Amino acid sequence: MSYRQSLSYSVLQRHYILFFMQAILSRVTIFIFLILPLIVQAQNNEKVVETILSQLTVEEKLRLIIGGGFTEDASLRNALNKVPGAVGKIHPVKRLNIPATILSDGPAGVRIRPYRGLDSSRTYFATGFPVATSLASTWDTNLVKELGVALGKEAKEYGIDVLLIPALNIQRNPLNGRNFEYFSEDPLISGTMAAALINGIQTNGVGTSIKHYAANNQETDRKTVDEIISERALREIYLRAFQIALKRSEPWTLMSSYNKINGIYAAENEDLITNVLRGEWGFKGLVVTDWHAGKHIVQQVVAGTDLIMPGKIHELRGLTSAYKNDSLSIKAIDKSVKNILQLILKTPVYNGYKYSDTPDLKANAILSRKVAAEGMILLKNNQNTLPLKSDLGVALLGAASYNTIANGRGSGEVNKAYVTSVEQGLTNANYVVDSQSEIASADELAQSNDVAVITIGRNSVEGRDRKIENDYYLTSQERKLIKELSRAFHAKNKKVVVVLNVTSLVDLSDWQDDVDAVLLAWHPGMEAGNAIADVLSGKVNPSGKLAITIPKKYQDVPSAAFFPGVAFTKENPSNNASTTRVVEYKEDIYVGYRHFLTKNIEPAYPFGYGMSYTNFEFSKVSISSNDFKQNLDVSVTVKNNGKVAGKEVVQLYLNAPKASLDKPLKELKGFAKTKLLAPGESQTLKLTITQDELASFNTQRSAWIADKGKYMVTVGNSSVDNKNELQFELKKEIVVEKTNTIKYPDSVKALQ
Ligand code: BGC
Repeated sequence: MSYRQSLSYSVLQRHYILFFMQAILSRVTIFIFLILPLIVQAQNNEKVVETILSQLTVEEKLRLIIGGGFTEDASLRNALNKVPGAVGKIHPVKRLNIPATILSDGPAGVRIRPYRGLDSSRTYFATGFPVATSLASTWDTNLVKELGVALGKEAKEYGIDVLLIPALNIQRNPLNGRNFEYFSEDPLISGTMAAALINGIQTNGVGTSIKHYAANNQETDRKTVDEIISERALREIYLRAFQIALKRSEPWTLMSSYNKINGIYAAENEDLITNVLRGEWGFKGLVVTDWHAGKHIVQQVVAGTDLIMPGKIHELRGLTSAYKNDSLSIKAIDKSVKNILQLILKTPVYNGYKYSDTPDLKANAILSRKVAAEGMILLKNNQNTLPLKSDLGVALLGAASYNTIANGRGSGEVNKAYVTSVEQGLTNANYVVDSQSEIASADELAQSNDVAVITIGRNSVEGRDRKIENDYYLTSQERKLIKELSRAFHAKNKKVVVVLNVTSLVDLSDWQDDVDAVLLAWHPGMEAGNAIADVLSGKVNPSGKLAITIPKKYQDVPSAAFFPGVAFTKENPSNNASTTRVVEYKEDIYVGYRHFLTKNIEPAYPFGYGMSYTNFEFSKVSISSNDFKQNLDVSVTVKNNGKVAGKEVVQLYLNAPKASLDKPLKELKGFAKTKLLAPGESQTLKLTITQDELASFNTQRSAWIADKGKYMVTVGNSSVDNKNELQFELKKEIVVEKTNTIKYPDSVKALQ
């Protein structure tokens, strides 16, 4: 070896040594500064919990388990009601300086009362953010996390310790009255969005509650319906969203649902709470019931529930006598109390946070508007009808143009200071808005305006499902309005735009051929009108994509024939008085696009679809290997080929080989959104496929199994974009995860 060579060799050696030392040091640094404090904190908390537990009387323990919805002690009332309108409280223990913990809804913003007593000099309005369906339609986890950070901070400044969100039930059917609170028909996007929101909110030291576990997919008889679901459909669709969320975040709490699942109330279901949630998935947080849920509170605690909400005195008496007659052990009580104490130790109130009651509502309104616009989906845009040129005269029709809907009703409602209407939004954006709404004058409107904008509005409410006629389908007046205006405006070579300000899907097939452009705006929060105007004007280039499938007709929805189940009547009595209805999930795992793609049913608009004012090209699509070992990376370059800046969503779908199981044609296994790409600009995105993505649930074997064989990957901008296909092979089956069998113990059956 020459001197030069040996010199460079030793330089190289030094370089490697330095490199490894740096790597070790940086790991040690991460461990010392980030991980160690967490471990020490957890151990300290554990000790504090044990100490408090040893000092609590049994009565105090039971009071912690039963929510603070009541008190006989007048001196505690102020503490329990310190945030008027907050829906849940945990009893304080004054003797041990444990303050009352405050829980509040909801999915589109903090739900508290805006006025307090007679004092009108001070208000407590909250930011109305876009609903969850809108958040999911952004396909942008960073943005959803950003919203979470702002929402968590707002909650904290209003004295809230735990926000009762996110709600991540699957949108099984468009008639579900609470769909607006849920993200999607797909568990991956639901779970991923939920995790982004949780991670954002909890950076503030405020807790979250993923809900409603599980299969809370309809409102009709929600407290007494029995949902019959196969274990595979539960595991792959309904539980999966929760499992994914829990892999990517650590929500402080989880709320069980009202309904029964295969004969057992969710809140009393030991298999689901203790075996699956805690045992299989390692959930360490607190399990809370939904408000006034279920029948048997002792069984709820035995099954693994920690906190019963909102809490009633007779429930306290019930638990006390169960403890006295030995049907509730101190072990079960302590287990719940420990989880409650662990939660309390993390809360702002316990840690002495002095909240201001003055969150930054201005900044949050700006963020709400930004997210709302990102969640809108451009469904149709013939001959570049949109964006609308500035200064146009707009004939603005439809009640929702003037009373624009910010969010749905029920616990997902927010008391916000205002909602900007579409009229205000368009006016703010310098359009000349013509508010005549007479159909008789359609020709006059077409004469005196440049374009027609019609807003179709729908709202829905917790506790009730929607109707097919005059709700899912447009009313005859609405259809007439669209028809008349389209005829009159088209006769003058002018365009008609429809904005859908809707709670969930409405039919489009009946009328969309009449109009030139359709914007699906959802319930966009309190800046609704401004955000809609941002997209209509082109200030924001739409980049939202459908997180649900729009069918051609309601009957094409896979659950249409089984929703909302069969009610028990005198002629068809139930042998169980607490069950009033049974709904069988006969579509099984074929929910949403899994059904449309596999059964080859053409939808009106497919899952993942959404247009832009520019166009994108996908190129250099490649896979790191064709032989699956551990993980695979798929990369793709997205180029903006159009004239305006825009964002695109890359979606990765997998077609898995069938061994013993029937499988969907394709399933979403990854997605990513580009940054705002200027015209001509490109970005390369990378998506990783792990074993998890390969596996399906095999009920016979109680396991998630990745079958050996060839897997097809498609990378595109919707579920039907098949331009870029790749293949890889798994040479040997992998048992990705062994599970328990979900069974239904006799002890529980006996209670029904
Ligand atoms: C809803 C929950 C909500 C709770 C408290 C229940 O009726 O199902 O989602 O968090 O009320 O308002």
